[in-house]
Amino acid sequence: MAVILGLESSCDETAAALVRSDRTILSHALAGQEDHHRAFGGVVPEIAARAHAELMTPLVETALADAGMTLRDVDAIAATAGPGLIGGVMVGLVTAKALAMAANKPLIAVNHLEGHALSPRLIDPGLEFPYLLLLVSGGHCQLLRVNGVGDYDRLATTIDDAVGEAFDKSAKILGLGFPGGPAVEKAAKQGNAKAVPLPRPLKGADEPHFSFAGLKSAVLRAHEAGTHRPEDIAASFQQAVVDCLEDRLEYSLSRIDPLGALVVAGGVAANDAIRAMLQRVAERYGMRFVAPPHWLCTDNGAMIAWAGAERFAAGLTDPLDVAARPRWPL
Ligand code: KG4
Ligand code: ZN
Repeated sequence: MAVILGLESSCDETAAALVRSDRTILSHALAGQEDHHRAFGGVVPEIAARAHAELMTPLVETALADAGMTLRDVDAIAATAGPGLIGGVMVGLVTAKALAMAANKPLIAVNHLEGHALSPRLIDPGLEFPYLLLLVSGGHCQLLRVNGVGDYDRLATTIDDAVGEAFDKSAKILGLGFPGGPAVEKAAKQGNAKAVPLPRPLKGADEPHFSFAGLKSAVLRAHEAGTHRPEDIAASFQQAVVDCLEDRLEYSLSRIDPLGALVVAGGVAANDAIRAMLQRVAERYGMRFVAPPHWLCTDNGAMIAWAGAERFAAGLTDPLDVAARPRWPL
């Protein structure tokens, strides 16, 4: 059985985790940077990179100590090598290279999106390839057929904003704070989802893609009108997102060969209204619904360690000069 150390630093979460190939999470250490970025209402790349540089080594030490291990007990070192904010990605990847070189261990460069995509298999041993994955995060909104490690068919993507981006921008417009997704979800619980008429971009369209930019602009107009409570706008916005995702998913599901499981991953997968809708859709199509626990949806080190474990098992390691990539489609 292999033990993999996984490092994550592509956005505003610094994380290190140790995961064993039998799916045991030996330790996971994480430091969010919300306090660094709150005053700016969004993630500032330079501040993020500096914080990653400060936090990464202590977090690796914590992850090793919590598991009662040293680098000698680790079989390979995995790190997010992209896509993401390049300064942060470089911190994690360079740290992993240094550790790999010092301890003479193999290096595994993980695509952050593959980290999200494979994370459901870490908690669900019965989840076999292929499965249908809705990947919803701060930077992406994609529907993927996951055929195997490193083997993805992209069925749909957003033509403008990512879902998480729409949550974050709406939170900013409504003055609900940062990070936006959880703030909108919390406010929505106090609001009336039918109070504010908002558009459902691309609903009913004869194409599989997603769109959220128009929804964000409508939130801005509703807010500027000054006649609605922020809670009502938040609830109406979240309902519109749920409706759009459901409509787009149904479009693809009614056109593809049946798959056993509908799976959700990425930070927005922590949203309970979205999870509940996906559960209903899965039932309608006779599919199993798989969602990682909330902490595994948002960025973390365990998902990178697990993707590393899957790649290691497939014999996929990388040379020490592998490059950090700001853009890296799956
Ligand atoms: O996967 P992630 O942690 O980072 C990226 O790879 O982008 O996703 C972060 C995104 C942010 O846009 C955040 O607002 C959103 O996920 N998010 C949520 C919730 N929790 C996090 N969106 C809606 N509801 C939530 N509960
Ligand atoms: Zn992510």
